[in-house]
Amino acid sequence: MIWRREARTADDTIAAGEAFAKVLRSTDIVLLSGTLGAGKTTFVKGVARGLGVRERITSPTFTMVREHQCANDLGIVTLHHCDVYRVGSLDEVVDLALGELVEESGVALIEWGELAATVFGRDVMTVDFVVDDEEKRTLIVDGELAHGRTALLDEWAAS
Ligand SMILES: Nc1ncnc2c1ncn2[C@@H]1O[C@H](COP(=O)(O)OP(=O)(O)O)[C@@H](O)[C@H]1O
Ligand SMILES: [Mg+2]
Repeated sequence: MIWRREARTADDTIAAGEAFAKVLRSTDIVLLSGTLGAGKTTFVKGVARGLGVRERITSPTFTMVREHQCANDLGIVTLHHCDVYRVGSLDEVVDLALGELVEESGVALIEWGELAATVFGRDVMTVDFVVDDEEKRTLIVDGELAHGRTALLDEWAAS
């Protein structure tokens, strides 16, 4: 089973991200995939809003990982926002130790995460951003972790 949601505008993508925050639990790893400009960072902005992040979200392309403190009722304290697009090798992703970063009370959203899917060593969720035409995107959620969140994702896809 997979879950889809359409986003016709950047604001729709933000709304999809904000609603997706309700699906998240601490220690979750979410891999975001899709071409440059597909809306991955825009989606993270929405998730950050849903998690109660007050800082501005910018693309972490050059820093690879940014951490944001959250304020929510979900028990998620830290949002780790990564972009592995410029990572030279899988070893560098291993060095980021993302699996350890999210232990206890964090979640990680990783742009271009599919490039590093093999290094996480645990179940993950994936969100694939498919650009149908210039503006319209379809967000497709899948992954082992997603299959344990069926009810929440049904709600996400329908809202
Ligand atoms: N439906 C849409 N969803 C997301 N972004 C959109 C959409 N339509 C237009 N945009 C624009 O496309 C760009 C997406 O950029 P960004 O989120 O940084 O993508 P990525 O991180 O995947 O490279 C933004 O400038 C945004 O305003
Ligand atoms: Mg980006």
